Amino acid sequence: TRVAVIFGGVSVEHEVSVISALQAIQNMNQDKYEIIPLYISKDRVWFTGEEMLDIENYKDLKGLLSKAQKVVMARTEDGKVVVQKEPRPRFGKSILSEVDVAFPIIHGTFGEDGVLQGFLELLNVPYVGCDVLSSSTGMDKVIMKNIYRDSDLPVLDYVWFYSTQWTEDPEAWTTKIKEKLDYPVIVKPANLGSSVGISKAENEEELEEAVDLASKFALKIVVEKMVQNMTEVNCSVLGDYEHVEASVCEQVLGSDEFLSYEDKYAGGSKDGGASKGMESTNRVIPAEIGDGKTKEVQEIAKKSFQMLGCSGVSRIDFIIDNDADKVYINEINTIPGSLSFYLWEPAGKPYKQMLDELIQLALK
Ligand code: DAL
Ligand code: MG
Repeated sequence: TRVAVIFGGVSVEHEVSVISALQAIQNMNQDKYEIIPLYISKDRVWFTGEEMLDIENYKDLKGLLSKAQKVVMARTEDGKVVVQKEPRPRFGKSILSEVDVAFPIIHGTFGEDGVLQGFLELLNVPYVGCDVLSSSTGMDKVIMKNIYRDSDLPVLDYVWFYSTQWTEDPEAWTTKIKEKLDYPVIVKPANLGSSVGISKAENEEELEEAVDLASKFALKIVVEKMVQNMTEVNCSVLGDYEHVEASVCEQVLGSDEFLSYEDKYAGGSKDGGASKGMESTNRVIPAEIGDGKTKEVQEIAKKSFQMLGCSGVSRIDFIIDNDADKVYINEINTIPGSLSFYLWEPAGKPYKQMLDELIQLALK
């Protein structure tokens, strides 16, 4: 089976994607799968070749890309999708590899939000993970919350608007927010992965600043109630509409309020590479929240995966309000960092097996 692993991409999480993808490739069953790396540069050029498999090569990205082979993708008359290395005059011929299944490992914009998935639909290539709608729904915090609220799944109270609506009448929105939520609140762009553009507001003045900041990143803004005394817990779910399982839970430590982009990605290595990309975050696995809460989180995680129509592996991030003893879904990541393998290994599923299951789900 020929697996095209697609990674890199245009989002701010480009580097995290390279790490997640190369980790996955290293753990794939090489006897069973022939891997075709497809790296998308930040300016959207596709590359392939052995060189793309070594993380060291990315340290000199310019050098790597000047040597690497560009990709042309084509669909042949018999319906096969082929990856063709762009012919280089010196070699005179191009190399083709047929693709049986695509494995998108791109976080955020254009990779996790349904865009890449739509492209693969058009090519008629089976692919690992969520389809177009579940991907895009998972990326838009407003749509996601609306669906969860309609499904009686717990989400924090929120107000949302387009930044243009805010500009037209900031007072009306400020009043609405005051009526519905208590300060402090969290202001977020509705459709970004990672924590870019997110900030806290303690009062009306700060609210305005926070909306201004979020507006730099998105047209659609969500303002949420902020839980002051909280525990952050994540749980991964694997499967599809027929069958789902939940992983062990992780507890996220090291940030008293919420993780900024810097908190998440700018820190040093804790475990020498595993789950890198989020490793500046301290975490405890399994989460120390007791059996009852763990079960509750796992059950809600499974439902939140199913209600969006997800498949593959996702990670659902929760906030526990310690004062009210209540669990809330914060967000879903349909292509989580490191594909959450570190939550499945303690659950008795080695990474190799998990990747196998993901590919088989895509092919079924
Ligand atoms: N968006 C990152 C990779 C995550 O939350 O896992
Ligand atoms: Mg995310």
